[in-house]
Amino acid sequence: MTTAVRPRTWSQRHLLDVDGLSREELETILALAVDMRNARAGREHRSLLEAETVALAFFEASTRTRISFELAAKALGATTVDLGVDRSSVSKGESLVDTLRTLERTGVTTVVIRHSESGAPHLAARKTGLHVINAGDGVHAHPTQALLDALTLREFFGSLDGRRIVIVGDVAHSRVARSNIHSLQALGARARVAGPAPWVAEFADWPGVEVATSLEDGLRDADAVMALRVQLERGAESFGDFVAAWRLDEDRMALAVQGAPILHPGPTNEGVELTADLANGPRSLIGRQVENGVPIRMAVLALVCGAV
Ligand code: CP
Repeated sequence: MTTAVRPRTWSQRHLLDVDGLSREELETILALAVDMRNARAGREHRSLLEAETVALAFFEASTRTRISFELAAKALGATTVDLGVDRSSVSKGESLVDTLRTLERTGVTTVVIRHSESGAPHLAARKTGLHVINAGDGVHAHPTQALLDALTLREFFGSLDGRRIVIVGDVAHSRVARSNIHSLQALGARARVAGPAPWVAEFADWPGVEVATSLEDGLRDADAVMALRVQLERGAESFGDFVAAWRLDEDRMALAVQGAPILHPGPTNEGVELTADLANGPRSLIGRQVENGVPIRMAVLALVCGAV
């Protein structure tokens, strides 16, 4: 194989979170993802995971993560199977662990799991012999989203050292925010959260995290701004006064450093977290975030399966 990266530092058979990853390990994933992007364009590595069968077990809805994991696995030659939770025996009451053990006995080697319960991927890793990749668990973690966000920001800035990245909105209910804080700090950035006080208060105890409860304080000296989906499905009570006080638009982005980019993990509540003009305008890296999903997930699959 022609991959330039030789990830000697990587020894993990799962990806459950980013909070235990060193800067060196994060750098390994980002560098491998760039290689994988080039390999995909050149149709290389199409047999790298031919011995693997990757199951997509999405117990919550997803477009970006599910589709990009499937494309990533196929680009590396893996067999893929979608559990199709609604059509599976989960709908008859079969437990998570029994479901995953059944997959394992049919020949599945790796499971990509999204679940509404925080810790579900960790349970899967403890109770099965599968490689487990966390595709988002409750409000806990979304490691591959944080990795693709880091790649997107790194490619915009060159280096994240000293950059102030501001995460705005419903931080309390966001697994994306929690994972991003860990990975951005590990890569040298300064992390700030900004939003209505009930949505940011708990982060005052997080080491190194700045907390702002007004838009002006939040966006001051922001090198990049990451809006978040308001998570009505995870307990945010309503959009309430959020739109009036916090919705991002071009005028409000003038509070940040000139030219600061805007990101959003998607899906957006249209017109709630940011205006369509901002989401689709020249500052937006949202499309780039989606594009980086496949190469990041190719890199993660190759690493946890021990193929590079
Ligand atoms: N960002 C993200 O996880 O999107 P999906 O829910 O569409 O996978």
